[in-house]
Amino acid sequence: MQDVMELVTGATGYIGTRLLRRLAGEGRGVRALARTPERLEPAVGVEPIRGDLVTGAGLARALDGCATAYYLVHSMEAASANGGGFGDRDRTAGERFAAAAADAGVERIVYLGGIEPAGGPKGAPLPLSAHLRSRLEVERILLDAVPGSTALRASIVIGAGSSSFRILVRLVERLRVLPLPAWRANRTQPIAERDVIEYLARTPSVPGAAGRSLDIAGPDVVTYGDMIGRIADAMGVGRMALGLGVSLTPPAAAVVAAVTGQPLELVRPLMESLESDLLPHDAGEAPRLYGIRPLHFDRSVDRALREWESLEPLGAR
Ligand SMILES: NC(=O)c1ccc[n+]([C@@H]2O[C@H](COP(=O)([O-])OP(=O)(O)OC[C@H]3O[C@@H](n4cnc5c(N)ncnc54)[C@H](OP(=O)(O)O)[C@@H]3O)[C@@H](O)[C@H]2O)c1
Repeated sequence: MQDVMELVTGATGYIGTRLLRRLAGEGRGVRALARTPERLEPAVGVEPIRGDLVTGAGLARALDGCATAYYLVHSMEAASANGGGFGDRDRTAGERFAAAAADAGVERIVYLGGIEPAGGPKGAPLPLSAHLRSRLEVERILLDAVPGSTALRASIVIGAGSSSFRILVRLVERLRVLPLPAWRANRTQPIAERDVIEYLARTPSVPGAAGRSLDIAGPDVVTYGDMIGRIADAMGVGRMALGLGVSLTPPAAAVVAAVTGQPLELVRPLMESLESDLLPHDAGEAPRLYGIRPLHFDRSVDRALREWESLEPLGAR
């Protein structure tokens, strides 16, 4: 066993898989916790551990001797799979993990969560979607239990495996006319997968990030409508946008789930988070602290589409 061990949870997920590859590639001592370790990508130097954050199974063993623990879990899956809604499951998972990490003497939990929307006109707080509320609740639980922890807060991650990006690409791929509800004018700052992995991998060696919540974002402010248009351009397809005056989230989510083939339990909470601007409070702070120059939106879309097509076919290209 290596002197310094790091634990990656959510190791079968989109971000977890890529982070695990990166840490193992650097020769860092890594444990990977998964409910189904058989699904982990085999990698030299990675010790798989079977565990479940909601039940707490396997946590003590996974955290034993770890200085850093990456928390990359969320529970947006059908309620019947694990009982309760995602908010309850994620609170339980966060509390179990936080207590076990504190007991094990972990120095830093590194968490990837969501951006807290900045205030509306005159600084009034904006209403939070259930998904963002839950992500911020888990962040608070983890930082309270292990005060040297770091929470990185991101909007949409642009990458071939990212659920939210995949939904947008599938819509462009499968619909010739794109009905865009009122939220099309809301703004956000998506971040390239490359940069998210860079921030996560470097966090344990950035002392100034300890005990902090930091917004991480790409350099471009885009509306959701622009994002869809620029993804269509990158795919080389013409699509007609049909602007609607209302948001229609519950019925629209059902249509989007059907068109994209993604579970409604995932699509609906993600769409509810489109209802307001989702902009970082200080987009310059994390790049300064980490020395990272984030990729532009169009470059990150090109990279993601290239990776996607190297793995599976993408129609309408
Ligand atoms: N992707 C984005 O655009 C984005 C943007 C901002 C923030 N984030 C944040 O990044 C983190 C990771 O997201 P992701 O996109 O990688 O999600 P993901 O692909 O859905 O992965 C979620 C992971 O959580 C695991 N998990 C769920 N319940 C668990 C439990 N009870 N015990 C142990 N593991 C459990 C899943 O394991 P199974 O394989 O067993 O289901 C899976 O490995 C989340 O906190 C998310 O909010 C993502």
